[in-house]
Formats: sequence, C-alpha cells, structure tokens
Amino acid sequence: MILTVTPNPCVDRIYSAPDFRSGRIHRVNKPLVRAGGKGINVARTLRLLGGDVHATGFLGGLNGEYIRGELRKEGIGDFFLTVQEETRNKIAITDTRTGEETEINEPGPAIAEEQEKFLRHLDSLVRRFGYSYVAFCGSLPRGASIDFYFRCVELVQSLGVKCAVDTSGEALKHSIEAKPWIVKPNRTELSEMVKSEIESYEDIMKQCHAILDSGVGNIMVTLGSRGAVYINGDGAWCAKPPRVPVEHSLGSGDAFLSGLLRGFEKNLDPPDALKFAMATAALHIQGALPDEYAKKNISELETNMTVCKLCVGGGE
Ligand SMILES: Nc1ncnc2c1ncn2[C@@H]1O[C@H](COP(=O)(O)OP(=O)(O)OP(=O)(O)O)[C@@H](O)[C@H]1O
Ligand SMILES: [Mg+2]
Repeated sequence: MILTVTPNPCVDRIYSAPDFRSGRIHRVNKPLVRAGGKGINVARTLRLLGGDVHATGFLGGLNGEYIRGELRKEGIGDFFLTVQEETRNKIAITDTRTGEETEINEPGPAIAEEQEKFLRHLDSLVRRFGYSYVAFCGSLPRGASIDFYFRCVELVQSLGVKCAVDTSGEALKHSIEAKPWIVKPNRTELSEMVKSEIESYEDIMKQCHAILDSGVGNIMVTLGSRGAVYINGDGAWCAKPPRVPVEHSLGSGDAFLSGLLRGFEKNLDPPDALKFAMATAALHIQGALPDEYAKKNISELETNMTVCKLCVGGGE
C-alpha cells in the first residue's frame, strides 16, 4: 500500500471558452470539477492501476468536504487532517480555439502549528499501516517551514519506509538533504536546483551523480515528450515515450510517478518500472478513461518503447 501526501490540495475547476480574453464576459458551460493537487492525482492514478492507496495532507471548509467525498468515491483512503481555513480553488480556462491555458491559483490555507500535529499523524499512519512507499507531492502551503518535507522524509525513512519526493525550488533542495529513496524532478526543476541549464543526457548524468553522492537513492528526471532518464547506483537508463495523441499533458508527471511507484510495488526492476511509468503517463496524456488503464493497454504501449542503458558521460 502507498501513502501520498498533498500539503496544499485544491479543487480544480476547468472551464472551456473559445477566444478567451481578459476584460470580456464569457458564457461557459459547467466547469469540469475535480479533487486536485499532485498527491491526490498520484493517488487517483494508483487506484486506476489497481493499487491500494491512502492520501493525507490538510483540508478545510466546503472545498475540503468536497474533496473528501471524491476520495471516498474513488476508493482512496482519506487520512487528511482538518484545518480551519478553506482549501483553495485552482481555476484553469482553456481557450478551445488556440489551446492556450490560463490559470488562476488561490493561495490556500496557511499552515503553522499544524505542522507538528501532522508529523505526529504521519508517524502514527506509517506505524499502523506499514506502507511500501510514501510520496510527497507538490508545493508547500503558506506558513509551512521550508524544511517540512525534510522532516517528513527523515521521520518516515527512520521507520524503514521508502520516500518519493516530487516538488520544486527550495522545498526540493531541502528535502534532498533527508536522502529520500527517490526524487522525480522534471528538466526545469532539476535545472533550477543545480543552477545550470540541463539539456543533454551528459548534463543529466553529471548533475545527478552529484545528487546520488549526497545520499539520494534514485533519481528520475522526466523530460516531457523527450522521455525520461532513471539513475541510481547501479546505472542509468533512458526511455522515449510512445507516440500518442496528446489530449492534455498537464499532470503527466503525476501519472508517471504513479506508474513508477506501482511498478516498484510489483517488484519490477528499474528499466521495467521506467517502461511501466511511461506507459501510464501515455494513457493519461491520451485522456484514457478509467477502464482503459488495463494491463493489456499498458503492455501494448510498452512494446512500442525501448529502454537504453546510458554509459558514463551520457552516451546510449
Ligand atoms: N507530449 C508527450 N508525448 C508523450 N509523452 C509525454 C508527453 N509529455 C509528457 N510525456 C510523458 O510524461 C512524462 C512526464 O512528463 P513531464 O516531464 O512533462 O512531467 P512534469 O513536468 O512533472 O508534469 P506535471 O508536473 O505537469 O505533472 C514524460 O517523461 C513522458 O513519459
Ligand atoms: Mg511535475
């Protein structure tokens, strides 16, 4: 079983409007509304892949109640702590003519003393359920100390459970000091972290080896339509995604992480887990329906991709 942590969840409200422009009135159809935030997205895809999953973080107000209802419907164990302030909305407006997306992000509740309560809660969850992995996903809420993920990872790993971290900026930098089992930056997040523009496989290998030397167990760098590179102490592998029609690429990294963790839960070795993750992301990108996350569709996508071992220096 896997636990996902979403410290700053949201209700996603997705509007479609042709010729969207600021300063105009747009009459739109009902928005697509769903529970959101990276850890919740990861939990949802893990369920679609047949995994057992719990989700935690902070929820408040009517939006919090809405998310709890959605988690129940989707069979995700709800272990969120309740906070006073209202959980945020995240509004996305897609211009159906140009495909351009405008986002309006509310800040969400401020977390301060709730952090200590959360650490005690996390400790008891991990002791009670003995998860195979705990995934920390997304940005930190207002008021959270920058070492929040660091403290969480240190606590969970001291209990013998492996942690995955998918975040950015300072939160990523600090969490790495707790030596998580795996981190999943995308190209931009890795470039920001090492303060150098990452382009080639050679750049990735060089920077990731320095991170591995600091004690992180595994690094998965996702490169959008260019694929992904997986590096650990045993070697490095790269894979290119299958060609699929792109319905939406937002959240593809979350789907990818779900596939990766589910793959490891099923004891796949790194190259096979990489393929499984990439097939899962490809299904997400195509806008696959829940029953399309079936084993036969994943296997079909996997046969259309190759995994190559990378040599020191970044050559295939
Ligand atoms: N256009 C695409 N075509 C095929 N596969 C894609 C495409 N974009 C992304 N992917 C797949 O999804 C994976 C993750 O993509 P990406 O690196 O964009 O993640 P991300 O930036 O973390 O996304 P997000 O944070 O929005 O969830 C890629 O490694 C690749 O397998
Ligand atoms: Mg991402």
